[in-house]
Amino acid sequence: MKKILLFASGAGSNVENIIQYFKNNNEVAVVGVFSNNPEAKVLEKAQVHHVPTLVFNRAELNEGFVLAKINELQPDLIVLAGFLWKMPEEIVHHYPNKIINIHPALLPKYGGKGMYGMNVHKTILENKEHETGITIHYVNEHYDEGEFILQQTVNIESCQTPEEIAAKVHELEHEFFPKVIEQILNPKS
Ligand code: GRF
Repeated sequence: MKKILLFASGAGSNVENIIQYFKNNNEVAVVGVFSNNPEAKVLEKAQVHHVPTLVFNRAELNEGFVLAKINELQPDLIVLAGFLWKMPEEIVHHYPNKIINIHPALLPKYGGKGMYGMNVHKTILENKEHETGITIHYVNEHYDEGEFILQQTVNIESCQTPEEIAAKVHELEHEFFPKVIEQILNPKS
């Protein structure tokens, strides 16, 4: 059984999508949802699907408590699905090439500090970009600079608001993220 551990800070639509995708998969299981935000809607979504949750603060993330909890679960893959804090180097080093992230833009553009959620889509609209997309990548100590796994693009010339762009990007995320996870855990022989 391959084990996925999810990290999220917000609404958790990607977390819920991934849980549902693997719900009846007897080779892959979502073993937990960890969050830095006690108010995050993702926690309720996890509980609805009977997935154990953990909420932690910055000290617990940076001083070994969260790493100890991860080690208890022994995940095969750690998936950041809208997690807004930087993963400490200690955790990245304990799980080399086992942590992936999804970014709602075509890195390296529109990445780095402050580039998350609506900020990304607002900037892309202001810059009159004709397309945007998603980047799924490995997480290294430099965060958004890990090796790319998949990029998908979508045309946004018809979009008038950041919300419209976000909706198109979320569609890509929900279509491709679970498939990328499945391919990493059980490469098609
Ligand atoms: C997604 O846009 C994802 O690309 C980014 O954070 C957002 C999470 O959305 N990393 P949700 O909480 O999964 O709805």
